[in-house]
Amino acid sequence: MEGIDGKVAIVTGGSSGCGVGIARRFVRAGAKVVLADILDEPGQALAADLGHACRYVHADLRSDSELQALVDFTVRTYGGIDFLINSACTYADRGEEATREEWLDAYNINVFGHVVLLQMSRPHLVKSANASVVNFTTEAAHAGLAGRWVYPSSKASIEQLTKSQALDLAPEGIRVNSVLPGWVRKPMHDTAPPEVQKAYANWGDRLHMLGRLGTLDEVADTVLFLCSSHATFTTGSCMYVDGGHSAMGPQGREKVLPTALRKAGGATSP
Ligand SMILES: NC(=O)c1ccc[n+]([C@@H]2O[C@H](COP(=O)([O-])OP(=O)(O)OC[C@H]3O[C@@H](n4cnc5c(N)ncnc54)[C@H](O)[C@@H]3O)[C@@H](O)[C@H]2O)c1
Repeated sequence: MEGIDGKVAIVTGGSSGCGVGIARRFVRAGAKVVLADILDEPGQALAADLGHACRYVHADLRSDSELQALVDFTVRTYGGIDFLINSACTYADRGEEATREEWLDAYNINVFGHVVLLQMSRPHLVKSANASVVNFTTEAAHAGLAGRWVYPSSKASIEQLTKSQALDLAPEGIRVNSVLPGWVRKPMHDTAPPEVQKAYANWGDRLHMLGRLGTLDEVADTVLFLCSSHATFTTGSCMYVDGGHSAMGPQGREKVLPTALRKAGGATSP
C-alpha cells in the first residue's frame, strides 16, 4: 500500500492483540514503529523481533510525563510522527458494581490518555504530509451489553471524539478515523482450555455474517489503509472490520420468518 514506507507510527497497546498485528504489518510495509504499552516483556520481545524499525517504550496512558517521554523518544529516534494508532484499552468493567475510582481509571486509559497523547503528538503530526490518527471502537458501543457499563460507554465516547477531532484537525491536514473490529482471534486463544476455544469459535460463527472470528492481519490491513495515501479523503469515519457483525439483525443468519411460514404452510413471498 502506498504512503506507508518511511513513515513513523506510534502504536499504543503494542504489546498485545491488535497492536501486535498492526506493528508487524506497518514494519512489513516499510514504516518505523514505536510500541507504547505497560506490558514490558512482550513489547520488548516484539521490538527485538522486528529489528531496527521498531522500538518499545513503557508508556502508561494514565501518566502525562510518560506520554511526553514517548513522543520525545519517537521524534528523537525516527525524526517525527506521521501516524498515531490508539489500540490500547482496558476491558476492566464490573458493570453496575463499578466504583467511581474504577470508572475514572478505565476512562483514563481508554479515553483521556489517548486525548492527551494526541495533544502532545499534534505539533509533530502537523508537519507530516499525510498525518493520520486511528482510534478503536467496538460494536458494543452501539447496543446494551449485559453486565458491562464502563467499556462500551468509553468506546462510544471514542466514536464521538473521533468526529470532533477530525473536524478540528482537518485544517492542519491531520485525518482522524476509528476502526470497529468484530471479535478477533488472538494468540492467547490458542493456549486457552479447549472448552474456551470451542466457545470462542462458536461465538465467532454466531455473531458474524462471515461465520468466523476476524484475524489480527485483517484489522491491521484496515488500519494500514486508513493511514495510506489511498485514504486521503477519509476522515471522521468509522470503518467496520467486523465480518458483518454490526449489520446483522438479532436473528443472525437464521431464516426465521420463511422457516416459520413454511412450517405453517404459508407463502414465503407476497
Ligand atoms: N479483540 C477484539 O475482539 C476487539 C473487538 C472490538 C474492539 N476491539 C478494540 O481493539 C483494540 C485492541 O483490542 P485487543 O483485544 O487487541 O486488546 P488487548 O487487550 O490484546 O491489548 C490491549 C493492550 O493495551 C495495553 N494497555 C492497557 N492499559 C494500558 C495503559 N494504562 N497504558 C498503556 N497501555 C495499556 C495492554 O497492556 C495491552 O497490551 C481495543 O481498543 C479494543 O477496544 C477489540
